[in-house]
Amino acid sequence: MAFVVAIDGPAASGKGTLARRLADEYGFHHLDTGLTYRAVAKALLDAHMPLDDEAQAAAIAEELDLSHLDRAVLSSHAIGEAASKVAVMSGVRVALVAAQRRFAQRLPGAVIDGRDIGTIVCPDAPVKLYVTASPQVRAKRRYAEMQAGGSTDSLDDVLQDLQKRDARDMGRKDSPLKPAEDAHLLDTSEMDIEAAFRAAKTLIDIQIAVRN
Ligand code: DC
Repeated sequence: MAFVVAIDGPAASGKGTLARRLADEYGFHHLDTGLTYRAVAKALLDAHMPLDDEAQAAAIAEELDLSHLDRAVLSSHAIGEAASKVAVMSGVRVALVAAQRRFAQRLPGAVIDGRDIGTIVCPDAPVKLYVTASPQVRAKRRYAEMQAGGSTDSLDDVLQDLQKRDARDMGRKDSPLKPAEDAHLLDTSEMDIEAAFRAAKTLIDIQIAVRN
């Protein structure tokens, strides 16, 4: 059976960086499920279709090829905002969750990050992490990234945007962002990626040893 590491958390919590490092460390496949919602949002935007057209969005989600998710193309702020709106529709979630569960069966294992991995997509994952950080710390990180990319948005704009996104992701009816009951919390407000990586590695090594 494939070994799954489920990682959830809000935007800019550091979960993506952590997921990539862990996948490298263990030779596991990695899926950033945010990219799947972003890809559906981009297809709707490109076709000038409304973001709340559930039938169209679900049809796009059903056809999505997970092996063609281009982070560079999908990483824009506008696509992230649109993805958060697309993600409230159950028709989209059903199709994407099915594809994500198929990915989770890949051997020898997978690190999957998103908002509902430990709660809905892989509730039986042997390791579940909930990565978070204060809104101020996350906004500073996102602001630094955006400035490096040439953005002129202020830190306050970025903070307000993040808080709006958190409210949408945590407040939606279907699969809201929340820690699974058995998730380990990693607060990266005052922890660098190295420390978060070491904490996660300890938890994973214990579960791998239990399974062998
Ligand atoms: O992690 P991200 O910024 O790429 O995610 C974009 C949006 O996709 C996010 O605002 C909510 C949604 N999403 C989700 O609902 N469930 C997931 N498992 C991953 C992302």
